[in-house]
Amino acid sequence: MSILITNIKQLLQTRTRGIYKISGSEMKTLPYLENAYLLIEHDTIVEYGSMKNIGGIIAEKTIDATGKIVLPAWCDSHTHLVYAGHREQEFVDRINGLTYEDIANKGGGILNSAEILAQTSEDDLYEQSVKRLHEVMKMGTGAIEIKSGYGLTLESELKILRVIKRLKHDFNILVRPTFLAAHAVPKKYKNNKTAYVDELINTTIPEIAKAQLAKYIDVYCEDGYFSLEDTDRILEAGKAHNLVPKLHVNQFNAFGGVALGVKHNARSVDHLEVMRPEDVNVLQGSDTMPVALPACSFFLGLPYTPARTIIDSGLPLALASDYNPGTTPSGNMNFVVSTACIKMKMTPEEAINAATINGAYAMGAHKMFGSITRGKKANVIITEDIPNYSYLPYAFGNNSINTVIINGIIVE
Ligand code: NIG
Ligand code: FE
Repeated sequence: MSILITNIKQLLQTRTRGIYKISGSEMKTLPYLENAYLLIEHDTIVEYGSMKNIGGIIAEKTIDATGKIVLPAWCDSHTHLVYAGHREQEFVDRINGLTYEDIANKGGGILNSAEILAQTSEDDLYEQSVKRLHEVMKMGTGAIEIKSGYGLTLESELKILRVIKRLKHDFNILVRPTFLAAHAVPKKYKNNKTAYVDELINTTIPEIAKAQLAKYIDVYCEDGYFSLEDTDRILEAGKAHNLVPKLHVNQFNAFGGVALGVKHNARSVDHLEVMRPEDVNVLQGSDTMPVALPACSFFLGLPYTPARTIIDSGLPLALASDYNPGTTPSGNMNFVVSTACIKMKMTPEEAINAATINGAYAMGAHKMFGSITRGKKANVIITEDIPNYSYLPYAFGNNSINTVIINGIIVE
């Protein structure tokens, strides 16, 4: 099937090959063409240009985008969307004064989700996840990372990773699977975290690697969860099995997790709500992408990642949703982009770069996703009639999307 999109008011993120991430002041630039066309054949962008040069191009389907903007579909590099149940009671408890920490200490939080997941059949977990994946695709997400981590046992982690594999197979979207090896210490190991980490290293990681269900390995490196030493050991074990690190670090406390990620050549370090100068410095010159999750800060009412400090120091920054039942029960990347502009003082150009090309880099998908480039996958959002691209984050909470095309197919 070929699709020709004509009369595009602004075609955003038109880039030639070889640009893999956008850093520092470059993030302020977002190349675009006015009055443009885009030609898709099968799942690939084959041509684009000014309407003046469209010549005699014809396609099986033509979409007239008069008054509309076309941009690359969002690349969401951090989600936990395979989970069971919901945690709105904890949400209400927080409104009534408990903190996220209080709830976790009472056995709520991640342990609560793990208990629900253990009681949920694999088919049921799949069905719940299908709904969420379809929902985010409709909202413009065209490539996604999904983590395990609500299992906390080998059996349950395998269950989640098999569901991720099934989603990958059944849906026409790039899915990058991550084994979130260490998310919380299970009740059974409450007073013996070292034994749990030993089990992860000696049994769980080798078994998960053997099943070939994950590309990345993740650890929640945080006070009360996993220390620098635990994280270092787990990442070493992952490396022995070719699992590449992506980390949860500096969400509530900064104590060297970013430097540890850089030491292990992590693909990304995510959260970063609390950043010391040394955490920014250590990222300079590294291949590790810093990732902000503003919808999580919004939902918890906590500080936002200091995007200005990070970008103004010359670093790149990516934006992702963190879709999960505890801290971000939403995978809406449009909201993430708006919130980054409103709360983190990112410009619309910076936020769109962060949620497309830099997001693609943060999940190792930049060669085929994240920009309007000949030969890349045909992943595009066609907006409603809107005046210009700044209107997208400006009209927060509104649905400005008309059509989403993923791998050359219109999402129904
Ligand atoms: O990325 N921080 C750790 N994990 C998730 C949320 C965990 C939960 O409360 O379910 C996050 O925010
Ligand atoms: Fe997360």
